[in-house]
Amino acid sequence: MQTLQVLSLTLLSILAGKAQTLRPGKCPQPPVQANFDAARYLGKWYEIQKLPAVFQKGQCSTATYSLKSPGLVGVLNRELLADNTVSSITGHAKAKNLSEPAKLEVTFFEDSPPSPYWVLSTDYEGHSVVYSCTDVLAASHVDFAWILSREPALSEEKLTELYSVFTSNGINIDVMTVTNQSRELCSNMPDWA
Ligand SMILES: *[C@@H]1O[C@H](CO)[C@@H](O)[C@H](O)[C@H]1NC(C)=O
Ligand SMILES: *[C@@H]1O[C@H](CO)[C@@H](O)[C@H](O)[C@H]1NC(C)=O
Repeated sequence: MQTLQVLSLTLLSILAGKAQTLRPGKCPQPPVQANFDAARYLGKWYEIQKLPAVFQKGQCSTATYSLKSPGLVGVLNRELLADNTVSSITGHAKAKNLSEPAKLEVTFFEDSPPSPYWVLSTDYEGHSVVYSCTDVLAASHVDFAWILSREPALSEEKLTELYSVFTSNGINIDVMTVTNQSRELCSNMPDWA
């Protein structure tokens, strides 16, 4: 049932043109952040870039993580829409297997299957590189990727270094989109700063 739901949701979003490409082969299995410490990961992150390159309806996107109970992380995603209203969504994340703490699963709607949220690399205080991949059909996958930062910007040098976390693991990020985190725009969103 769950697999079917993932499949139909994924196909639906491909048909709707929301997801980008159906990629060949099974999901890559990149190494994740060693000794991932969820407690140090809590708090606010700014979305710097993301995949897929859909038409972006929101800017100034942030993700705020909080501890709901032992092992359960609360998720609050917020973004500023073109009409200056704030869109937010809440969910929760937990490790599927406690031996692999950086491989989280995020649930936003109780009746939908969780999505993978793999922290490939983080230093907790600067950046985070996140990957989410779902196998679909016989041998294809659809993936999402994010570069997050504790500050609204990252240097070009840092970005280049973080891109390689994806590309060295066979993850195609040719079409990452930049999230606008300019102070001029984002100070319109309460709690952005
Ligand atoms: C949990 O992860 C460990 C380490 O990767 C693995 O050996 C074990 O089989 C996993 N357990 C389950 C239930 O998947
Ligand atoms: C971000 O938004 C501001 C305000 O609308 C705009 O001036 C700026 O050009 C945008 N930056 C990018 C990179 O799109």
